Amino acid sequence: MVIIRGATTIQEDTKSCISYAVKRLLDAVFNENHLQKEEIDGFLFSLTSDIHSYHPAKAARESGYDFAPLFAAVEPNIDGGLPLCIRLMLFTNRTDKKNVKHIYQEGAKALRKDISEIYNIALDGPAGSGKSTVAKALARDYNILYLDTGAMYRACGLKALRLGINPKDGIGVEKMLPDLNVTVEYRDGTQHTILDGEDVSSAIRENAVSMAASDISTHQAVRIKMVELQREIAKSMSCVLDGRDIGTAVLPDARYKFYVTADSKVRAIRRFNELSARGQQVDFEQLHAEIVARDKQDSEREFSPLMQADDAIVIDTSNMQIDEVVQAVKAAIQAKI
Ligand code: DC
Repeated sequence: MVIIRGATTIQEDTKSCISYAVKRLLDAVFNENHLQKEEIDGFLFSLTSDIHSYHPAKAARESGYDFAPLFAAVEPNIDGGLPLCIRLMLFTNRTDKKNVKHIYQEGAKALRKDISEIYNIALDGPAGSGKSTVAKALARDYNILYLDTGAMYRACGLKALRLGINPKDGIGVEKMLPDLNVTVEYRDGTQHTILDGEDVSSAIRENAVSMAASDISTHQAVRIKMVELQREIAKSMSCVLDGRDIGTAVLPDARYKFYVTADSKVRAIRRFNELSARGQQVDFEQLHAEIVARDKQDSEREFSPLMQADDAIVIDTSNMQIDEVVQAVKAAIQAKI
């Protein structure tokens, strides 16, 4: 079941204001979500206790929304609550939660900016800082998309390695670009990275691809191509993106920005455990040296280097459990809503 939320406020407590507001809200919910009657299991309204003149369920029925059970209840009177407010929960038999549009109108727009408008969360930081784990948790909890931008550069690096092109060689890489086709697809909420039609989601996680990704991401032409796709996705739906330059270059206007970092030794331990769990054998000291080298290259490159945006909230995860990081990020988002 997918529940679609909506809310609106009325100017005055009169029958005509209530009827107009309920019809306008329901029309928008149905139109924006392309809903059909058969998809609706029920309507649940709530109204603030300062509304007495008419029943929202009755108003809905009179506007033609009479094909599923309707129910309305009065909310308790809460100090500081939005006055003259009507809220809706629409129960549907849909299963795809990703493309739901919740509708907030009039004064109720202020209530849930987090779900009523498209918004982006930018998580930047060095390798192993924990940003991808946090991003996945946020995407799951907020029911929004997770876009792993590092995976896209990894796919570019993989292609160069496969073709025997040195990812540092700008001329060789530029020649490869017209035939480079990186896209992302989502299956059961998980990103699959597609390189020239092939699902390379596992192949790009090989340790050798990490440095190739860092090398190839230094070229401006590669970045322009990847950033175009990232912006395209981010403007079409709410999503959390993790990378190096999201808050500074890809989406400088992202509503929420975080810079997630950690001590390089801690990050090397995390990567070591991650790779070991996947059966990849690596030498710890070498892995640490690679991470430090990658940090340096990602931070010192000319185009869109890894950098903390001025308006990003910095979170050092060296001594934090992942749950604590997720809670800290969510608390900061909540404080800004
Ligand atoms: O996050 P990751 O380890 O999967 O990223 C691999 C490389 O891709 C990273 O070393 C630098 C590059 N990258 C980038 O330049 N910009 C991004 N937004 C994401 C990753």
